[in-house]
Amino acid sequence: MKVSDCKLGFVGFGHMAQVIYQAIEHAKLIPRSQISFIQRDPGKMKQNEQKYGLTSTSLERLVETSDLIILGVRPQQAHLVLEKLPPGKPLISLLAGVKIAYFQEHLGSETPILRVMPNIASAVGEGMSVFTYSPQFPEEIKSAAHLIFGCMGQVMEVSEPLADIACGIAGSGPGFVFRLIEAMARTGEKEGLSYETALKMAAQVFVGAGRLVAKGSLPETLIQQIGVPNGVTVAGFESMRQTRVDEHFQEAILAAAKRSKALSQEIK
Ligand SMILES: NC(=O)c1ccc[n+]([C@@H]2O[C@H](COP(=O)([O-])OP(=O)(O)OC[C@H]3O[C@@H](n4cnc5c(N)ncnc54)[C@H](OP(=O)(O)O)[C@@H]3O)[C@@H](O)[C@H]2O)c1
Repeated sequence: MKVSDCKLGFVGFGHMAQVIYQAIEHAKLIPRSQISFIQRDPGKMKQNEQKYGLTSTSLERLVETSDLIILGVRPQQAHLVLEKLPPGKPLISLLAGVKIAYFQEHLGSETPILRVMPNIASAVGEGMSVFTYSPQFPEEIKSAAHLIFGCMGQVMEVSEPLADIACGIAGSGPGFVFRLIEAMARTGEKEGLSYETALKMAAQVFVGAGRLVAKGSLPETLIQQIGVPNGVTVAGFESMRQTRVDEHFQEAILAAAKRSKALSQEIK
């Protein structure tokens, strides 16, 4: 199946699903006429039909006409949808923490399931999507999924036992970085910069630092390079050491991973 021939159905068309649709549309990967969606609220479906020029439909019709379904409901909402899906139809789940076994309990062990943990930076083509496949996942759908999620950033694959920690780092990570950017900007503001100026500085710092590491420089090397003895940054490093910032940050990531693990036990 060529990705451009793929008929795609979004079950749940909230924030994340719309980000994915917009990236597909921007990359001209799949013609709009081959994409349909469904939400709970008919009013929102009408609005999104107009906004995106897409067709909303019934769940039955969506299932019938789609080669591939992207499930974008919240984890707690999943069972209501899964009850109505037939076995065998390849499913891409965006649901944080929900294991492949859960889907296969509802849809049968032969149904190909791809768990994807995308993140909010997909909206600007800088996303990090982490894939976990059910066994014997069809290669051609794998390739199509790589093209779909590749047009909104990077894609990595992990085995399912590592999906929760990947969720803590890649799925929730932007949230933690937003907190840090906000803290930097508010500090600048307190010290006399305008909030807007400090925010711009802080955001570019994360873009630049992230890009250096993404291009292959190791954080450890960069830390040494920037940490001139008795210099300005070293004073900050010392404060970070005393307040154990790194450990606290690790705890936040582990808390998110733990929550991801717990979610699979909470849903029906
Ligand atoms: N947001 C993120 O950054 C992010 C990152 C990674 C993964 N995720 C995962 O992506 C999923 C969606 O998150 P979100 O932020 O996009 O949530 P959201 O904005 O609340 O979207 C959920 C969508 O599901 C629809 N829905 C709920 N029950 C339905 C049903 N029975 N039939 C059809 N549609 C139904 C809702 O319809 P209405 O619009 O009519 O209410 C809504 O469009 C979650 O499972 C989350 O774990 C999100």
